[in-house]
Amino acid sequence: MSALSSNALVAVIGAGAMGAGIAQVAAQAGHPVKLYDNRPGAAAQAVAGIDRQLGRLVEKGKLQPQAREAISARLQPVEAIETLADARLVIEAIVENLQVKQQLLQQLESLCAEDCILASNTSSLSITGLAAGLQRPQQVVGMHFFNPAPLMALVEIVSGLATAPAIANTLYETAKVWGKKPVHTRSTPGFIVNRVARPFYAESLRLLQEGAADCATLDALLRDAGGFRMGAFELTDLIGHDVNYAVTCSVFEAFYGDFRFQPSLVQKELVDAGRLGRKSGQGFYSYTDGAERPPAAELHSQASTECCVVEGQLGALHPLVARLRDSGLAITERAGNGLLRVGDATLALSDGRLASQRAREDGLRNLVLVDLALDYQAATRIAISWSADTSAEARDQAVALLQRAGLKVTGIADLPGLVVLRTVAMLANEAADAVLQGVGSAADIDLAMCAGVNYPRGPLAWAEQLGVGHTLRVLENLQASYGESRYRPSLLLRRSAEQGANLHD
Ligand code: NAI
Repeated sequence: MSALSSNALVAVIGAGAMGAGIAQVAAQAGHPVKLYDNRPGAAAQAVAGIDRQLGRLVEKGKLQPQAREAISARLQPVEAIETLADARLVIEAIVENLQVKQQLLQQLESLCAEDCILASNTSSLSITGLAAGLQRPQQVVGMHFFNPAPLMALVEIVSGLATAPAIANTLYETAKVWGKKPVHTRSTPGFIVNRVARPFYAESLRLLQEGAADCATLDALLRDAGGFRMGAFELTDLIGHDVNYAVTCSVFEAFYGDFRFQPSLVQKELVDAGRLGRKSGQGFYSYTDGAERPPAAELHSQASTECCVVEGQLGALHPLVARLRDSGLAITERAGNGLLRVGDATLALSDGRLASQRAREDGLRNLVLVDLALDYQAATRIAISWSADTSAEARDQAVALLQRAGLKVTGIADLPGLVVLRTVAMLANEAADAVLQGVGSAADIDLAMCAGVNYPRGPLAWAEQLGVGHTLRVLENLQASYGESRYRPSLLLRRSAEQGANLHD
């Protein structure tokens, strides 16, 4: 299946933030583009805005002046929808309202040629529902860009029940030619990104609610250990709590109240208070002039450590051994069950049990649990938690060991799965369920999370690196600790662990 030819006319309807961005992308790819908005003058204003954006690219040396002229010449604002009749592809980016979008699609169907592709940029409405009642529902497809469209690489190509595979494939290939990273997905709540990303926010909100640590500390851990660009609190402050909470509520309702997607009372309270984040001057953090971000909590140890013992394979934690060795520590390796011993302390990667529970069940004295890091060689901070009967001296020795390797060490309350491990396990769980339910392929889901929300690694690839069996154990232990269906492991994880198969197989 091939892409639309670059001389095919593309019509964009809705000249807001998304419509203008999409029009720019299509024009930059060489298409003649007509932009229409039912607010008089809005399309012309948007085209002028795009030209200014292109001007900035010229100033920065990223675009030739002739290219700017050519792109702007291809963009035509129009004031009458009838002028879109000769479009080969129409992309609507109007108000997020099912009835209004349906009416528009009906009008377009009678206006445009039979083979015209009718695409919607909706982020939450069903493509199946949008196409229902049309004469040619097979022509309707989701083309979900991310904001800002000219910069964000991901485009979700969403097939509804009636969408013709050839139409979805043509748009997929077209998006590629436009320099985007398209993925195929089905019309299910949240598509890929808005579904799979829910636990990123939800687990931090829950950790905050349960007193694991403060916002700044949890954010720092997701950044400095997890490798995410932002923590969940700074990110939701940026997105706006009204917007982020509404997306969570809509996905929760669309899944008939599945507790996996349960919204947070902590976030609802911010919305109720009008603390919407950056745009209102206050969210989890203050954005008033001169407001300073509180520092992340950190433990300091004066204990001196010269040696440690590695017993068996530490699993995903093993790369830390090389870092400890590089810091000049004497390391003894011997057989065992994946434990790291220093002085009186025993360190281990969390398996999702409380430290106190694991210490009792496994008969481990002075247990200190270590969180997951994206890359133990590159991380700058790591979280630990410890059992109620771990002595202060032993904890100090564990902190000293990690400090010696150049890590900042943050202590958090004894909660199952710490911070990064629990977040990654839940992201992988949601991604696995989406694969199981045919929402997308494992490769497309990983790509979507990296290109759409800048995750440092696809959740499924991350689970494979952590070990599918270990990821499953973390979720089982979370579920046992909380007794909630929210943490129930996806059947795909269980099946892959049973079969010893990778999630991308
Ligand atoms: P916006 O409010 O900035 O722009 C919407 C534009 O559509 C306005 O200019 C409005 O005058 C026009 N419009 C409304 N009804 C119309 C109609 N019947 N006919 C013609 N024009 C009409 O909205 P935004 O943010 O650009 O979103 C547009 C669509 O894109 C929505 O479906 C939204 O869910 C989706 N989306 C938004 C993202 C975002 O981050 N803002 C990201 C991805 C998708």
